[in-house]
Amino acid sequence: MRPTLFLLSVLSGCLRSALAVWIDMEGLPDTGLNTSSWVTGVLPDLTTDIWDLNDMQIAAKNVLAPKYYASYRTGALNEFTYQANLNIYSKVRLNGFSFRDVSNMNVATTILGYNFSQPFFIAPAADAGHANKSAEASLAEAAGKAGILYAPSISSTLSIEKIAAAGQPGQVMFHQEYIWANKTRLVDELHRIKASGFKAIFLTVDNTGINGIRTRSMRFNDDTDTDTGHAANFDLQSLAAFRNLTTLPIVPKGIKTWQDARTCMELGFPAIYVSNHGGRVLDGAPTSVEVLMDIRQNAPEVFDNMEVYADGGVRRGTDAIILLALGARAVGLGRPAMFANIWGEPGVSRMISLFAQEFYTSLQLMGVSDVHALNTSYVNTNQIVPLTLS
Ligand SMILES: Cc1cc2nc3c(=O)[nH]c(=O)nc-3n(C[C@H](O)[C@H](O)[C@H](O)COP(=O)(O)O)c2cc1C
Ligand SMILES: *[C@@H]1O[C@H](CO)[C@@H](O)[C@H](O)[C@H]1NC(C)=O
Ligand SMILES: *[C@@H]1O[C@H](CO)[C@@H](O)[C@H](O)[C@H]1NC(C)=O
Ligand SMILES: *[C@@H]1O[C@H](CO)[C@@H](O)[C@H](O)[C@H]1NC(C)=O
Ligand SMILES: *[C@@H]1O[C@H](CO)[C@@H](O)[C@H](O)[C@H]1NC(C)=O
Ligand SMILES: *[C@@H]1O[C@H](CO)[C@@H](O)[C@H](O)[C@H]1NC(C)=O
Ligand SMILES: *[C@@H]1O[C@H](CO)[C@@H](O)[C@H](O)[C@H]1NC(C)=O
Repeated sequence: MRPTLFLLSVLSGCLRSALAVWIDMEGLPDTGLNTSSWVTGVLPDLTTDIWDLNDMQIAAKNVLAPKYYASYRTGALNEFTYQANLNIYSKVRLNGFSFRDVSNMNVATTILGYNFSQPFFIAPAADAGHANKSAEASLAEAAGKAGILYAPSISSTLSIEKIAAAGQPGQVMFHQEYIWANKTRLVDELHRIKASGFKAIFLTVDNTGINGIRTRSMRFNDDTDTDTGHAANFDLQSLAAFRNLTTLPIVPKGIKTWQDARTCMELGFPAIYVSNHGGRVLDGAPTSVEVLMDIRQNAPEVFDNMEVYADGGVRRGTDAIILLALGARAVGLGRPAMFANIWGEPGVSRMISLFAQEFYTSLQLMGVSDVHALNTSYVNTNQIVPLTLS
């Protein structure tokens, strides 16, 4: 080797090791992800490096500006609920049965009567544009290609109309809405949501008037104003009045107690969405696993009278199976889709297909050929202390 070439190769070797990134994996399950060849700010290769949803989170941490990673990643206060969302699934055991014919698998289902290819969906999350300039368009497109539900946030980067237009022909999407104090805004948005073809409203009711204090994210932000524009006086009367504002089906999102679940049932809602908002509002709120168990114990009729959706910390196909076995009809993914969107639509599509593969292989290994057969006989929750203490 000529001396100059030798020098160059030594130099580039030094440069590579200087750039080689060490990333704090945040205690996520260690599946051998090797980031030593990654360069900070550069997208890792989607098909060679990325094998599960946790990999996508680490890739997003490598690529996004720290303030944007923090804004997606943050929970409220101590993040006890954020961590509990991730960890609760390790306390549930799955019962797998042998001597079953699983040569023909079905995971397709209906959500509010609409057909979808999978019982999991992309949950509403604000500001997808911080990950990629395609923003919510890539989420709509990937969901449409895969035949799954997407419900964009009312705090999206793109407008209601632009997101609708990014869908595939005939694609069914729902839309999230907040309980704005400004009624003109509510009426206007609900009208636009319906006119744009969205089929139902996820009405988020868990951050009344105020947001959780998200320390991890606030560190990057001069604006510490937690006023959200949401009505702080949103009571049952307001809920009744809200129902008069649209003919679309309304699904209250952010249900955290069996009492509220039962109230929604008594009021005749077609569905509820059990969620602690990814641990971003009330720190200390229970996980969806605990809330579903609590509804089962105290108001099991809820599951017979309405559909129940749930989310929080779902990162593996097995997590979704647990929520479905406890009575959820469909399961939402929040952060994973936002992180996957650093690659735009191909990232979100890979996220969906990796997750779908984990989901159906685990079902098949459990001896469940049809997702609708899942029930509590498939889960062992002995390690979870019942939420009701008395
Ligand atoms: C960055 C981010 C923004 C969110 N924005 C909204 C929102 O605008 N409306 C809403 O109802 N929920 C919002 N959520 C909550 C999600 O809908 C969902 O409940 C939560 O992310 C599920 O937990 P997971 O992220 O662990 O999957 C947001 C969550 C994240 C992470
Ligand atoms: C990670 O990959 C680098 C090369 O890219 C290699 O040198 C290193 O041994 C790998 N580390 C582990 C733990 O496999
Ligand atoms: C939904 O799926 C069912 C069963 O596969 C089918 O009979 C029905 O036509 C589908 N509905 C729509 C609107 O595609
Ligand atoms: C209420 O919402 C409407 C429609 O979005 C807007 O034009 C108006 O400025 C808002 N009013 C207040 C007081 O913010
Ligand atoms: C809803 O609309 C109906 C019919 O227009 C009306 O009778 C009722 O009082 C309204 N309810 C509320 C809470 O506004
Ligand atoms: C955004 O996604 C597109 C694909 O849709 C991709 O080509 C591009 O690299 C991504 N943008 C950034 C800034 O990473
Ligand atoms: C759950 O499903 C199994 C298999 O389909 C059935 O035998 C069992 O009775 C069901 N158990 C409950 C608790 O519903």
